[in-house]
Amino acid sequence: MEQNHILDEQNGGFIAPYKSFASDAIHVGQEPEQWTSMAVVPLISLSTTFKQTAPGKHAGFEYSRSGNPTRNCLEKAVAALDGAKYCLALASGLAATVTITHMLKAGDGIICMDDVYGGTNRYFQRVASELGLDVTLADMTNPDNLKVALKTNTKLVWLETPTNPTMKVVDIKTCSDLVHDYNRDIIVVVDNTFMSAYFQRPLCLGADICMYSATKYMNGHSDVVMGLVSTNRDDLHKKLKFLQNALGCVPSPFDCYLCNRGLKTLHLRMERHFKNATAVAKFLEADPRVERVIFPGLPSHSQHELMKRQCTGCSGMLSFYIKGQLEHAKTFLSSLKVFALAESLGGYESLAEHPAIMTHASLPEKERCVLGISDTLIRLSVGLEDVADIIDDLKQALNAACPKM
Ligand SMILES: Cc1ncc(COP(=O)(O)O)c(C=O)c1O
Repeated sequence: MEQNHILDEQNGGFIAPYKSFASDAIHVGQEPEQWTSMAVVPLISLSTTFKQTAPGKHAGFEYSRSGNPTRNCLEKAVAALDGAKYCLALASGLAATVTITHMLKAGDGIICMDDVYGGTNRYFQRVASELGLDVTLADMTNPDNLKVALKTNTKLVWLETPTNPTMKVVDIKTCSDLVHDYNRDIIVVVDNTFMSAYFQRPLCLGADICMYSATKYMNGHSDVVMGLVSTNRDDLHKKLKFLQNALGCVPSPFDCYLCNRGLKTLHLRMERHFKNATAVAKFLEADPRVERVIFPGLPSHSQHELMKRQCTGCSGMLSFYIKGQLEHAKTFLSSLKVFALAESLGGYESLAEHPAIMTHASLPEKERCVLGISDTLIRLSVGLEDVADIIDDLKQALNAACPKM
């Protein structure tokens, strides 16, 4: 499936939406003919094992860790949405990261974007490096930093864009080309969690693997923990499929069913997340109690033009610095009523969190400081509620936190 790189004035200057996205989300991999009952909605296949007609002769499934009919429906749908040949579902986003990293061996090098999800950073720096992998962090918003970091032992480059929580944008095409010009065998991975397949297709921009914490937008209902890994490369698929079974980090059929169901409304949800987040970002930008808003969907974001060149829109993720100190951020967060003060993101409900104390607490304070994860930084996952209620909630929480400003 080709990505349409034409900037679309009707789409706010972002690239045009991917053709037949909604139809693919609803139909690919869901054919009723695959079930003897002709069920329109995929079945939840709980059986751990599948009957063989003769030793080694089976209908495509042997044992549920190596392959499961419900998981198969989900994997086919996600592959179509990513413009990929293959997709594999894993037990969590981190299980996906671990499975991908298992393609490497001791002594191999990983270059990771400096501002990634705290758990990714923790895994690379505190687990993978203990196993002999050589981990380097680099700010790849400037591709020159990537160029400098590339070494003969580099085997994996890990991008996340926009980053979590400071919403830095990485030029996927420029970085992928740079890496592959240096050495075609280096695997470029993009963590696409913040964007979902609806707004960004890393594989069409030159990445080798697109991964998700499907716990977020792809499922979208905050009731499943899951990871997804898509690729067009036969060799990578073969290795990852082997590892999916060999490591055994697989999701349950019930979770696969839920995530597959969530995908059916992905396009509708993402449009509304974008609309609500844009309104929230504009409201916050105009409020004197807010120091700075970071939302890549607004022209005030320094990489807004890049965002428009590589995405079809923006998700509901935004961050902002409240004026004052830690106590102001804490009072603001504790005063919210529509927003739940909670980790995670990408569900239908609005969530707010304090990265320095919550999601990014595992990062050393010095690293947090360099990244801009200060005491006054607040991250919002703007949900699908009525936008007037969302903004009223933010208003009353700002009043509570900063009454005299
Ligand atoms: C961008 C990003 N990547 C990966 C992960 C890890 O995913 P999971 O929590 O599903 O293991 C998260 C979790 O918050 C995330 O936000």
